[in-house]
Amino acid sequence: MCHDCVAGRRTAGASRRSFARFLAAGAGLTVLAACTPVAPETVAPSSSPVPAVTSASGVPAVESTTAAAAPSAQVPVSPSAAAALPRQFSLTDPASPWVVVNKHRPLSPADYAPADLVRPNVNLAVSGEAALLNSPTAAAAETMFAAAAQDGVVMTLASGYRSYGTQVVTYNGYVAARGQADADTASARPGYSEHQTGWALDIGDGGGACGFDSCFADQPAAVWAKANGHRFGFVVRYPLMFHPITGYYYEPWHLRYIGVEAATDMANRGIVTLEEYFGVEAAPGYA
Ligand code: DAL
Ligand code: ZN
Repeated sequence: MCHDCVAGRRTAGASRRSFARFLAAGAGLTVLAACTPVAPETVAPSSSPVPAVTSASGVPAVESTTAAAAPSAQVPVSPSAAAALPRQFSLTDPASPWVVVNKHRPLSPADYAPADLVRPNVNLAVSGEAALLNSPTAAAAETMFAAAAQDGVVMTLASGYRSYGTQVVTYNGYVAARGQADADTASARPGYSEHQTGWALDIGDGGGACGFDSCFADQPAAVWAKANGHRFGFVVRYPLMFHPITGYYYEPWHLRYIGVEAATDMANRGIVTLEEYFGVEAAPGYA
């Protein structure tokens, strides 16, 4: 959720804790329902990278990291592979596990709310609506958190579902603290957040100073999730140095559920953004 660049580090501490309050805001909604992700607009994953982006308009060029590869003049593009998955799901239906939400692809309707929000049986660092996920994501999170625990890794749910109204509060908080341009590199505008779909969650490690900070990338929970998340259907949605494609700085805590098959396929093919994998345009800024 929080900003993850050099500027973000300057605001670590009090500001981060302040933003954490936004993440924790919200009331609960628990409705069980089946998810049927097939919808009109469907595609097969791309066998070639997303169209090249040569500049990061509106996005600062420097991104702090503990494991950064040097930025190249061009946006890094992932290698492609031949095979595409046979299963096809909608890229636009917010109830689809393959929905691609970014600065060019707002949720429709803007105030969408999942019908199947549930509270996963995992270590919770939040309460209320932030402790909810849609039911497939909740089930996958339970399995993943248990596997992490088996490996001795403490993982907490630091932020799950966020309603449109909560995202208004969250985003406005960032704007007030950092100005709109900086806020837009860290927080989605209302109606543009994956958290509103129930398919995304932020993880923590139950303590420490790195919650929602770039140094979280080195913490066991993040290292484990990056290496193993695909086995449970999750990808790190905002990878390092790919902000010209995703629109956001590195968020090692933000995991997105797309299903085991697709997440594993991405890992096997070395593709790290949904934009590249599904062959949709890069979204460095709002259209
Ligand atoms: N931090 C991510 C981009 C969100 O606000 O959804
Ligand atoms: Zn997040």
